[in-house]
Amino acid sequence: MLLSIFLSGFFSSPDVEEKKMKTLLVYCSRKGYVKEWGERLASKAGGSVTMAEAGDKDLTGKIREHDAVVIAASLKAGSVDSRIKKLCTSGQKEFSGKKIVIALAGIGESDSGKFMTQNFPAELLEKAEAKIWIGGRYIPEQNNFLVRFIMKKITGSSGNVNCEKWETVDEVIKILEGSR
Ligand SMILES: Cc1cc2nc3c(=O)[nH]c(=O)nc-3n(C[C@H](O)[C@H](O)[C@H](O)COP(=O)(O)O)c2cc1C
Repeated sequence: MLLSIFLSGFFSSPDVEEKKMKTLLVYCSRKGYVKEWGERLASKAGGSVTMAEAGDKDLTGKIREHDAVVIAASLKAGSVDSRIKKLCTSGQKEFSGKKIVIALAGIGESDSGKFMTQNFPAELLEKAEAKIWIGGRYIPEQNNFLVRFIMKKITGSSGNVNCEKWETVDEVIKILEGSR
């Protein structure tokens, strides 16, 4: 028994070790929540996740170089940023054969299913390994008077709204590490 443990340790080499899945996290963040969520994911995933903003140059080229793509975006008046929408419709070919995770941020979780179907193409939603609601936060001071006025009407409060779901970082890491 001891001898076999010794021998397996002795003969294992980095070449035999399981290759880590390379993930590109494409994000769009207006006030920093999605960016922070992505940074936590990248830091916890230990080097296997690279971040790129939705409008970055040669995004399709970057997607091609990765095994998995996490698309992370936040909602504003029911919609994700147009660059995310464009990528999701025009990038279908690049997504082929890749593990896809959609991460959607917002403070209106009760409508999360509706927001998913309204913002992402049906084909991509079907193909995605997971569609995750990652919560969000709203900080009035980050916004102008008009937004603060509207959000007060909607949320019924003039204070911060904290619906962060940091636990989804670990959930997504598990999905990425799972067998394909
Ligand atoms: C003007 C405005 C509109 C918003 N509209 C929605 C919405 O329609 N649905 C929702 O769930 N959250 C909505 N939110 C909440 C944001 O999605 C939430 O603050 C999110 O964390 C923002 O992430 P980001 O800072 O990374 O962009 C809205 C926030 C603002 C400021």
